[in-house]
Amino acid sequence: MVKRVKTAVFPVAGLGTRFLPATKAMPKEMLTVVDRPLIQYAVDEAKEAGITHFVFVTGRNKGVIEDHFDRQFELETTLETRGKLKALEELRQDLPSAGRTSFTRQQEPLGLGHAVWCARDIVGDEPFALLLPDMLFKGRRGVLKQMIEAYETTGGNVIAVEEVPHQEVSSYGVVGRGAGTDGGFAITEMVEKPKPQDAPSNLIISGRYILQPEIFSLLADQPRGAGGEIQLTDAMQTLMKSQPFAGVKYDGQSFDCGSKVGFLAANVAYALDRDDIAEDFLAALSKLGLIDGMKVAAE
Ligand code: UTP
Repeated sequence: MVKRVKTAVFPVAGLGTRFLPATKAMPKEMLTVVDRPLIQYAVDEAKEAGITHFVFVTGRNKGVIEDHFDRQFELETTLETRGKLKALEELRQDLPSAGRTSFTRQQEPLGLGHAVWCARDIVGDEPFALLLPDMLFKGRRGVLKQMIEAYETTGGNVIAVEEVPHQEVSSYGVVGRGAGTDGGFAITEMVEKPKPQDAPSNLIISGRYILQPEIFSLLADQPRGAGGEIQLTDAMQTLMKSQPFAGVKYDGQSFDCGSKVGFLAANVAYALDRDDIAEDFLAALSKLGLIDGMKVAAE
Protein backbone atom coordinates (compact mmCIF):
# COMPACT_ATOMS: atom_id res chain seq x y z
CA MET A 1 0.00 0.00 0.00
CA VAL A 2 1.31 3.47 -0.87
CA LYS A 3 1.85 6.07 1.82
CA ARG A 4 -0.88 8.73 1.70
CA VAL A 5 0.04 12.26 0.56
CA LYS A 6 -1.07 14.66 3.29
CA THR A 7 1.32 17.59 2.87
CA ALA A 8 1.58 20.12 0.06
CA VAL A 9 4.47 22.52 -0.47
CA PHE A 10 3.90 25.88 -2.15
CA PRO A 11 7.15 27.61 -3.16
CA VAL A 12 6.35 31.33 -3.11
CA ALA A 13 9.78 32.92 -2.65
CA GLY A 14 10.57 33.78 -6.29
CA LEU A 15 11.21 37.37 -7.35
CA GLY A 16 8.58 37.44 -10.11
CA THR A 17 10.78 39.55 -12.37
CA ARG A 18 8.50 39.01 -15.37
CA PHE A 19 5.78 40.93 -13.57
CA LEU A 20 7.68 44.01 -12.46
CA PRO A 21 6.78 46.59 -11.31
CA ALA A 22 3.63 44.88 -9.94
CA THR A 23 5.78 42.43 -8.00
CA LYS A 24 8.27 44.92 -6.55
CA ALA A 25 6.52 45.03 -3.16
CA MET A 26 3.68 42.55 -3.74
CA PRO A 27 4.14 38.80 -4.19
CA LYS A 28 3.37 37.42 -7.64
CA GLU A 29 1.32 34.71 -5.92
CA MET A 30 -1.13 37.39 -4.69
CA LEU A 31 -1.96 38.57 -8.22
CA THR A 32 -5.68 38.04 -8.66
CA VAL A 33 -7.52 36.10 -11.30
CA VAL A 34 -10.92 37.82 -11.17
CA ASP A 35 -11.09 38.22 -7.36
CA ARG A 36 -9.02 35.37 -5.94
CA PRO A 37 -5.25 35.41 -5.52
CA LEU A 38 -3.28 32.76 -7.38
CA ILE A 39 -2.16 31.19 -4.11
CA GLN A 40 -5.80 30.67 -3.07
CA TYR A 41 -6.52 28.69 -6.26
CA ALA A 42 -3.51 26.45 -5.51
CA VAL A 43 -4.58 25.88 -1.90
CA ASP A 44 -8.14 25.10 -3.05
CA GLU A 45 -6.77 22.56 -5.53
CA ALA A 46 -4.71 20.93 -2.76
CA LYS A 47 -7.72 20.83 -0.40
CA GLU A 48 -9.85 19.19 -3.11
CA ALA A 49 -7.14 16.51 -3.42
CA GLY A 50 -7.34 15.72 0.31
CA ILE A 51 -4.24 17.62 1.47
CA THR A 52 -4.38 18.56 5.15
CA HIS A 53 -1.04 20.32 5.77
CA PHE A 54 -0.09 23.39 3.74
CA VAL A 55 3.58 24.41 3.73
CA PHE A 56 4.59 27.77 2.26
CA VAL A 57 8.19 28.56 1.42
CA THR A 58 8.18 32.34 1.54
CA GLY A 59 10.76 35.12 1.27
CA ARG A 60 11.05 38.85 1.86
CA ASN A 61 7.93 40.89 0.93
CA LYS A 62 5.78 37.76 1.15
CA GLY A 63 4.27 38.33 4.61
CA VAL A 64 0.93 39.20 3.06
CA ILE A 65 0.56 35.55 2.00
CA GLU A 66 0.66 34.57 5.67
CA ASP A 67 -1.93 37.27 6.46
CA HIS A 68 -4.15 36.03 3.65
CA PHE A 69 -4.48 32.67 5.40
CA ASP A 70 -5.31 34.24 8.77
CA ARG A 71 -8.56 35.52 10.28
CA GLN A 72 -9.21 39.26 9.82
CA PHE A 73 -11.44 40.11 12.75
CA GLU A 74 -12.12 43.78 11.95
CA LEU A 75 -13.17 42.88 8.42
CA GLU A 76 -15.26 39.94 9.58
CA THR A 77 -17.07 42.03 12.20
CA THR A 78 -17.80 44.73 9.61
CA LEU A 79 -19.16 42.18 7.13
CA GLU A 80 -21.35 40.73 9.87
CA THR A 81 -22.66 44.15 10.96
CA ARG A 82 -23.48 45.00 7.34
CA GLY A 83 -25.26 41.68 6.82
CA LYS A 84 -22.81 40.52 4.14
CA LEU A 85 -23.01 37.00 5.44
CA LYS A 86 -22.33 35.20 2.17
CA ALA A 87 -19.03 37.06 1.71
CA LEU A 88 -18.17 36.29 5.34
CA GLU A 89 -18.93 32.60 4.92
CA GLU A 90 -16.83 32.45 1.75
CA LEU A 91 -13.87 34.11 3.49
CA ARG A 92 -14.02 31.56 6.27
CA GLN A 93 -14.26 28.66 3.84
CA ASP A 94 -11.07 29.77 2.12
CA LEU A 95 -9.01 29.31 5.29
CA PRO A 96 -7.13 26.11 6.01
CA SER A 97 -8.01 24.77 9.48
CA ALA A 98 -6.16 26.14 12.51
CA GLY A 99 -2.68 24.70 12.89
CA ARG A 100 -2.63 23.23 9.39
CA THR A 101 -0.33 25.81 7.80
CA SER A 102 3.45 26.08 8.13
CA PHE A 103 5.66 28.86 6.86
CA THR A 104 9.38 28.74 6.31
CA ARG A 105 11.74 31.11 4.56
CA GLN A 106 14.01 30.74 1.59
CA GLN A 107 16.40 33.52 2.52
CA GLU A 108 17.78 33.83 -1.02
CA PRO A 109 15.92 32.88 -4.22
CA LEU A 110 18.41 30.24 -5.31
CA GLY A 111 15.93 28.38 -7.50
CA LEU A 112 12.93 26.09 -7.25
CA GLY A 113 15.03 23.10 -6.14
CA HIS A 114 16.44 25.13 -3.27
CA ALA A 115 12.97 26.39 -2.27
CA VAL A 116 11.73 22.79 -2.07
CA TRP A 117 14.78 21.78 -0.02
CA CYS A 118 13.96 24.58 2.47
CA ALA A 119 10.77 22.65 3.36
CA ARG A 120 12.65 19.43 4.26
CA ASP A 121 12.33 19.60 8.07
CA ILE A 122 8.64 20.50 7.95
CA VAL A 123 7.77 17.76 5.44
CA GLY A 124 9.90 15.09 7.13
CA ASP A 125 10.09 11.53 5.83
CA GLU A 126 6.80 11.60 3.91
CA PRO A 127 5.73 11.85 0.28
CA PHE A 128 4.48 15.34 -0.51
CA ALA A 129 2.74 17.31 -3.23
CA LEU A 130 4.42 20.31 -4.79
CA LEU A 131 2.31 23.00 -6.42
CA LEU A 132 3.72 26.02 -8.27
CA PRO A 133 0.98 28.59 -7.66
CA ASP A 134 1.66 30.59 -10.79
CA MET A 135 0.46 27.62 -12.85
CA LEU A 136 -3.32 27.71 -12.80
CA PHE A 137 -5.47 24.82 -14.01
CA LYS A 138 -9.10 25.05 -14.98
CA GLY A 139 -11.19 21.96 -15.40
CA ARG A 140 -13.84 19.71 -13.98
CA ARG A 141 -11.42 18.02 -11.56
CA GLY A 142 -8.33 19.51 -9.99
CA VAL A 143 -5.01 18.39 -11.44
CA LEU A 144 -3.61 17.32 -8.06
CA LYS A 145 -6.69 15.18 -7.43
CA GLN A 146 -6.12 13.44 -10.77
CA MET A 147 -2.49 12.88 -9.79
CA ILE A 148 -3.33 11.48 -6.36
CA GLU A 149 -5.71 9.01 -8.03
CA ALA A 150 -2.84 7.87 -10.27
CA TYR A 151 -0.42 7.76 -7.31
CA GLU A 152 -2.69 5.38 -5.42
CA THR A 153 -1.92 2.83 -8.16
CA THR A 154 1.61 3.77 -9.22
CA GLY A 155 3.18 4.97 -5.95
CA GLY A 156 6.61 6.54 -6.40
CA ASN A 157 6.82 10.00 -7.89
CA VAL A 158 4.19 11.56 -10.14
CA ILE A 159 4.46 14.53 -12.48
CA ALA A 160 1.64 16.37 -14.26
CA VAL A 161 2.33 16.83 -17.95
CA GLU A 162 0.65 18.54 -20.85
CA GLU A 163 1.06 18.49 -24.59
CA VAL A 164 2.52 21.49 -26.42
CA PRO A 165 3.26 21.96 -30.15
CA HIS A 166 6.50 20.11 -30.86
CA GLN A 167 8.42 23.25 -31.90
CA GLU A 168 7.78 24.81 -28.44
CA VAL A 169 9.38 22.06 -26.33
CA SER A 170 12.70 23.90 -26.03
CA SER A 171 11.22 26.26 -23.41
CA TYR A 172 10.32 23.44 -21.00
CA GLY A 173 11.26 20.26 -19.20
CA VAL A 174 10.12 17.35 -21.38
CA VAL A 175 9.43 13.73 -20.42
CA GLY A 176 9.72 10.48 -22.37
CA ARG A 177 6.54 8.38 -22.36
CA GLY A 178 6.61 4.66 -21.61
CA ALA A 179 3.85 2.12 -20.97
CA GLY A 180 0.51 3.19 -19.51
CA THR A 181 -2.43 5.46 -20.17
CA ASP A 182 -2.89 9.25 -20.03
CA GLY A 183 -4.10 8.74 -16.47
CA GLY A 184 -0.74 7.23 -15.44
CA PHE A 185 2.22 6.18 -17.60
CA ALA A 186 5.86 5.40 -16.92
CA ILE A 187 8.25 8.29 -17.46
CA THR A 188 11.32 6.95 -19.23
CA GLU A 189 13.46 10.10 -19.20
CA MET A 190 13.41 13.79 -18.40
CA VAL A 191 15.18 16.39 -20.49
CA GLU A 192 15.45 20.08 -19.65
CA LYS A 193 14.80 22.47 -22.59
CA PRO A 194 15.69 20.08 -25.45
CA LYS A 195 15.94 21.09 -29.10
CA PRO A 196 12.73 19.92 -30.84
CA GLN A 197 14.67 17.27 -32.79
CA ASP A 198 16.16 15.86 -29.55
CA ALA A 199 12.95 15.91 -27.47
CA PRO A 200 11.63 12.49 -26.39
CA SER A 201 8.01 13.74 -26.76
CA ASN A 202 5.97 16.93 -26.69
CA LEU A 203 4.83 16.33 -23.09
CA ILE A 204 6.05 19.08 -20.78
CA ILE A 205 6.40 19.17 -17.00
CA SER A 206 3.80 21.65 -15.85
CA GLY A 207 3.97 22.70 -12.23
CA ARG A 208 2.45 19.88 -10.16
CA TYR A 209 4.44 17.04 -8.60
CA ILE A 210 4.12 14.27 -6.04
CA LEU A 211 7.59 13.53 -4.72
CA GLN A 212 9.15 11.07 -2.33
CA PRO A 213 11.23 12.51 0.54
CA GLU A 214 14.47 11.06 -0.91
CA ILE A 215 14.45 14.13 -3.18
CA PHE A 216 15.63 16.26 -0.22
CA SER A 217 19.04 14.62 0.22
CA LEU A 218 19.61 14.87 -3.54
CA LEU A 219 18.72 18.56 -3.47
CA ALA A 220 21.13 19.08 -0.59
CA ASP A 221 24.03 17.94 -2.79
CA GLN A 222 22.70 19.37 -6.03
CA PRO A 223 25.19 21.76 -7.66
CA ARG A 224 23.79 24.91 -9.24
CA GLY A 225 22.47 24.30 -12.73
CA ALA A 226 20.96 26.50 -15.44
CA GLY A 227 20.81 30.21 -14.50
CA GLY A 228 23.00 29.56 -11.43
CA GLU A 229 19.94 28.12 -9.67
CA ILE A 230 19.45 24.79 -7.89
CA GLN A 231 17.17 23.03 -10.34
CA LEU A 232 14.48 20.59 -9.24
CA THR A 233 14.63 18.77 -12.58
CA ASP A 234 18.33 17.97 -12.08
CA ALA A 235 17.56 16.29 -8.73
CA MET A 236 14.54 14.45 -10.20
CA GLN A 237 16.77 13.09 -12.98
CA THR A 238 19.04 11.59 -10.30
CA LEU A 239 16.06 10.25 -8.31
CA MET A 240 14.78 8.54 -11.47
CA LYS A 241 17.76 6.18 -11.30
CA SER A 242 16.43 4.62 -8.09
CA GLN A 243 12.67 5.33 -8.04
CA PRO A 244 9.83 5.16 -10.55
CA PHE A 245 8.27 8.33 -11.99
CA ALA A 246 4.80 8.32 -13.52
CA GLY A 247 3.29 10.99 -15.75
CA VAL A 248 -0.33 12.10 -15.68
CA LYS A 249 -1.58 13.86 -18.79
CA TYR A 250 -4.27 15.74 -16.98
CA ASP A 251 -7.70 16.68 -18.12
CA GLY A 252 -8.04 20.49 -18.05
CA GLN A 253 -6.68 23.76 -19.34
CA SER A 254 -3.53 25.39 -18.01
CA PHE A 255 -2.59 29.05 -17.67
CA ASP A 256 0.98 30.12 -16.99
CA CYS A 257 0.16 33.09 -14.77
CA GLY A 258 3.86 33.83 -14.30
CA SER A 259 3.70 35.31 -17.80
CA LYS A 260 1.62 38.37 -18.61
CA VAL A 261 -0.23 36.78 -21.52
CA GLY A 262 -1.07 33.63 -19.55
CA PHE A 263 -2.29 35.72 -16.63
CA LEU A 264 -4.52 37.90 -18.82
CA ALA A 265 -5.93 34.84 -20.62
CA ALA A 266 -6.73 33.25 -17.23
CA ASN A 267 -8.64 36.35 -16.16
CA VAL A 268 -10.74 36.26 -19.33
CA ALA A 269 -11.43 32.51 -19.06
CA TYR A 270 -12.36 32.65 -15.36
CA ALA A 271 -14.47 35.81 -15.73
CA LEU A 272 -16.47 34.24 -18.57
CA ASP A 273 -17.10 31.25 -16.34
CA ARG A 274 -18.55 33.28 -13.48
CA ASP A 275 -22.34 33.52 -13.37
CA ASP A 276 -22.21 36.78 -11.41
CA ILE A 277 -20.13 38.75 -13.92
CA ALA A 278 -19.93 36.89 -17.26
CA GLU A 279 -22.77 38.85 -18.88
CA ASP A 280 -21.49 42.27 -17.82
CA PHE A 281 -17.96 41.28 -18.78
CA LEU A 282 -19.10 40.25 -22.26
CA ALA A 283 -20.91 43.59 -22.60
CA ALA A 284 -17.72 45.42 -21.61
CA LEU A 285 -15.74 43.39 -24.15
CA SER A 286 -18.32 44.10 -26.79
CA LYS A 287 -17.72 47.83 -26.28
CA LEU A 288 -14.10 47.12 -27.11
CA GLY A 289 -15.22 45.37 -30.32
CA LEU A 290 -14.02 42.00 -29.02
CA ILE A 291 -17.23 40.14 -28.44
CA ASP A 292 -17.08 37.66 -31.34
CA GLY A 293 -13.69 36.33 -30.31
CA MET A 294 -14.74 36.17 -26.67
CA LYS A 295 -17.94 34.29 -27.44
CA VAL A 296 -15.81 31.57 -28.99
CA ALA A 297 -13.67 31.43 -25.83
CA ALA A 298 -16.76 31.20 -23.64
CA GLU A 299 -18.21 28.19 -25.45
P1 UTP B 1 9.41 31.01 -11.46
O1 UTP B 1 10.26 30.13 -12.26
O2 UTP B 1 8.17 31.52 -12.14
O3 UTP B 1 10.33 32.22 -10.96
O4 UTP B 1 9.03 30.26 -10.13
P2 UTP B 1 9.97 33.61 -10.31
O5 UTP B 1 11.22 34.14 -9.72
O6 UTP B 1 8.82 33.52 -9.37
O7 UTP B 1 9.47 34.54 -11.52
P3 UTP B 1 10.27 35.26 -12.73
O8 UTP B 1 10.69 34.14 -13.66
O9 UTP B 1 11.42 36.02 -12.15
O10 UTP B 1 9.23 36.15 -13.32
C1 UTP B 1 8.02 29.26 -10.05
C2 UTP B 1 7.58 29.18 -8.59
O11 UTP B 1 8.69 28.86 -7.76
C3 UTP B 1 8.89 29.84 -6.76
C4 UTP B 1 8.17 31.09 -7.27
O12 UTP B 1 7.76 31.92 -6.20
C5 UTP B 1 7.02 30.51 -8.07
O13 UTP B 1 5.89 30.25 -7.26
N1 UTP B 1 10.35 30.05 -6.55
C6 UTP B 1 11.17 30.22 -7.60
C7 UTP B 1 10.83 30.06 -5.26
O14 UTP B 1 10.08 29.90 -4.27
N2 UTP B 1 12.18 30.27 -5.07
C8 UTP B 1 13.03 30.46 -6.10
O15 UTP B 1 14.25 30.63 -5.84
C9 UTP B 1 12.52 30.42 -7.40
